[in-house]
Amino acid sequence: MPESFFILSKDNLEIAIDEVVSIVKTYDRFSKVKILSNLIIIQSKTNWEQITKRATFVKVSGQILRKMSGLFLDGENFEILKNAKTFVCRIINLSSDKINVPELERAMGDMIIKFSKAKVSLKNPDITIYLILTINENFFGFAKRFECEKRPKKIKTHPHELNWKLTRAMINLIGLKEGETVCDPFCGTGTTLLEAESMGIHGIGLDFDQKMYDISKENLDVNGYKSKIIKADFSQLTNIVNEFDGIVTDLPYGIASKSSENPEELIKKFVSILPKGKKIIMMCKKGFEKKLKIKPTKKYEIYRHKSLTRVIIIK
Ligand SMILES: C[S@@+](CC[C@H](N)C(=O)[O-])C[C@H]1O[C@@H](n2cnc3c(N)ncnc32)[C@H](O)[C@@H]1O
Repeated sequence: MPESFFILSKDNLEIAIDEVVSIVKTYDRFSKVKILSNLIIIQSKTNWEQITKRATFVKVSGQILRKMSGLFLDGENFEILKNAKTFVCRIINLSSDKINVPELERAMGDMIIKFSKAKVSLKNPDITIYLILTINENFFGFAKRFECEKRPKKIKTHPHELNWKLTRAMINLIGLKEGETVCDPFCGTGTTLLEAESMGIHGIGLDFDQKMYDISKENLDVNGYKSKIIKADFSQLTNIVNEFDGIVTDLPYGIASKSSENPEELIKKFVSILPKGKKIIMMCKKGFEKKLKIKPTKKYEIYRHKSLTRVIIIK
């Protein structure tokens, strides 16, 4: 089974790890996962590009060719360069050893040139060859040139909007697949709907505020997205339960975002009408969640500033 590697950004590392694991398991529940701090090694029939396209916090990824105890490489390792015109070498040092990375990258490049006709190109090479050094073992891998998907445009913003990275990660954390439908009952500027559609997931948004409804609509239209938006109170979601597979939402805080009532009371009501059998993830102000009759399967804390720490809860 092919093995791939993912180096994650260290901001929100716990979420970053769980997001990749959730995506991998969504596509292939028999995948094997090994976590070495911010490096994840995965054995799965799912291609690393498919995982990378969805994952929010992956900095570098590719396929593993082999594990090595030392640094020795030979001609056999460079079969992958057969049809490549250009390449670059990258060393990722996650070990505790001090290593002169540029020097080692140059030495590796010089060695490869002896076995291959491909030339070094630092900008946009056909193939990037990786040597990942960790405390116990080293991994030799590669990645073919990889076109990142276009990000959805957002022409209208609002101070209470949730950043796209956390929103995207939340969608992935509950394992929604292409073709399924997500509902955001407090959709605001439409961030959840935009991120979902960019991954091939349909969306339904509700917001009681006409202004937010209009903003969401404009943001979807400019991308040619077809998610449904309903100008309605969140309680209306009980009438559309058969139309979605999961809920991803960021509840009103009562600071910048308008709330139809006291945010704590609103959350209690919201939790009391949550449908059974759906994948549910929500964000709220830290502290609110303690008063809810809900047993989260997972909880993450996100510090924003002195007076606001938020929590993400997976039901
Ligand atoms: C924190 S904001 C959501 C931000 C959104 N995630 C985004 O990225 O733009 C909360 C939203 O809930 C909406 N809202 C407040 N009370 C509501 C209610 N009773 N029913 C539906 N929407 C409500 C507000 O208008 C606001 O747009």
